[in-house]
Amino acid sequence: MTKRSDDRRVVILQALRDNPGGVSGELLATELGVSRVAVRKHVEALRELGYEVDARAGEGYTLVSSPDAPLPLEVRPLLRDDFFVRIEGGRVTGSTNDDARTLALDGAPEGTVVLAAEQTTGRGRLGREWSSPPGGVYASVLLRPRVETPEAIVLPLVVGLGVAHGLDTLGVQTLLKWPNDLLCVDGRKVAGVLLEGLSEGWLISWIVAGVGINVRSTPDRLRFASVDELFGRRVPLAQVAAAVLDGIAGAYRRWQSDGFAPFAAEYEGRSYLAGRPVRVSDAAGRVLAQGEVVGIDAVGRLLVATEAGTVPIVAGDVTLREE
Ligand code: BTN
Repeated sequence: MTKRSDDRRVVILQALRDNPGGVSGELLATELGVSRVAVRKHVEALRELGYEVDARAGEGYTLVSSPDAPLPLEVRPLLRDDFFVRIEGGRVTGSTNDDARTLALDGAPEGTVVLAAEQTTGRGRLGREWSSPPGGVYASVLLRPRVETPEAIVLPLVVGLGVAHGLDTLGVQTLLKWPNDLLCVDGRKVAGVLLEGLSEGWLISWIVAGVGINVRSTPDRLRFASVDELFGRRVPLAQVAAAVLDGIAGAYRRWQSDGFAPFAAEYEGRSYLAGRPVRVSDAAGRVLAQGEVVGIDAVGRLLVATEAGTVPIVAGDVTLREE
């Protein structure tokens, strides 16, 4: 769909929402400067996206219901940052990270994003499945950072902070569990971040930052929390998506200009792990450090005070130990 068609559909949707009693095809055609046949085609396209639109002689078009999905034409008008130059997807897909990777390999620009409300093969860290039932916001943002490869190790932290900033604007407070989980104050997980990418020597070709947010429901209420539950009412998925995307864009821009150091204090302030006893393991399950978390340093490493001294951790899986 071209951006122009998308824009026209946005105008039609707005007119339908402003006029719950119905709006004539003729009026829509005049407003858009197109023919009534063109209006009918746009309405048909909206129906294919999942909008229920009634058409009655004498009453015109009426919007009966809208799909519960972060559709590009709903998300785009809500975005405040112009970072997102291409917005794709919106309903169901296998994995938005896979879709974004395909676009990256096709040469899509930085600021491309793929959205979904449901994934059938969502992936989490360490090869785990990411349960992605309908009613979530699953987003993958294509980044082409102009830094050398080792510097990008902090990107999951930057993206996590961006997601947290976005959720703040919705009134949903989250804490960060290094390196890439967002938790509510009682320790249940609200969102996770998964970065995948390709570097060519010292230069990064592309990175896909995938974010999965539980909005309507959670896979398991003991370990996970949803945005709706924390907010206390149903938040439109498009609104969650736009808030989180703006948050990511802001944090990413700031990191590109100033590096990670300005984020370190804030990350520490929002750290769920601060002062807690942890065990950190590598991907093969080998223990890298065991002790108490004492901070995050200026290059994003988790600082664990062990019996042998403070160990800075660059990458690893953190489990909380019973106190
Ligand atoms: C984790 O906590 O393990 C990270 C989960 C990341 C899930 C997101 S959902 C959007 C994107 N597409 C995927 O298949 N995974 C990421």
